[in-house]
Amino acid sequence: MSIESSADWDGLRAAAAVVSQTLALLSRAVEPGITTGDLDRMAAALFASCGARSAPALVYGFPGSVLISVNDEVVHGVPGARTIAAGDLVSLDVTVELDGYVSDAARSLVVEPGESTARRLVGCAAAAFAAALPVARAGHRVNEIGRAVHREVRRQGFAVVKGLAGHGLGRTIHEPPSVPNEWDPWQSDVLTEGLVIAIEPMITTGSGEAVEGKDGWTIRTRDRSLAAHHENTVVITRGRPIVLTESAV
Ligand code: CO
Repeated sequence: MSIESSADWDGLRAAAAVVSQTLALLSRAVEPGITTGDLDRMAAALFASCGARSAPALVYGFPGSVLISVNDEVVHGVPGARTIAAGDLVSLDVTVELDGYVSDAARSLVVEPGESTARRLVGCAAAAFAAALPVARAGHRVNEIGRAVHREVRRQGFAVVKGLAGHGLGRTIHEPPSVPNEWDPWQSDVLTEGLVIAIEPMITTGSGEAVEGKDGWTIRTRDRSLAAHHENTVVITRGRPIVLTESAV
């Protein structure tokens, strides 16, 4: 969507606030012994108290409230009986619908004591997101975001996960345009003032090939290498974009 009124701002900011609150809650709760199902129930209770709904459940019938992906899982992990252990790299992806507005953000974290490579990968995902901000402005091509993300990820010796991209959003989860994490020759869209997009580097220590798991939801790395994800809902302006979910952790 493109923001057109103060009602749009208010609605989107309210949805983004629920996303930020949920990510903060879950990040604090992740520890050895907790299950991904426990984390999902905490998110569901918070959504209910805010009058928000899980957008992936609403739009795609996802069997959970939030998407929790561990280690070699990149995105769309289904919460359940899996127990979190020390050293795990946990990616939390939260998308809510509140009063007709949708916001989306994700964070990865390492359950300590973890390995330095995992911590560096998580840091790189955040750095790649930050590298995209200076070029994410009205009049620039969407592709410039992909180029900036890819450059930072390569510089740090990692790879972007192929076939996965950010997206427009605001009224539903996935709206045009696609927001790639590398230069995409087919993507010719130009960013416009007020456009709402999710910028979301999904990166790996491995080759970057991804496959779908047997559950029909989870996307994991083909070579079982670690993956990390950093995402925010941003609004394009003529200057620096406004990051609505920045306070997420
Ligand atoms: Co997203």
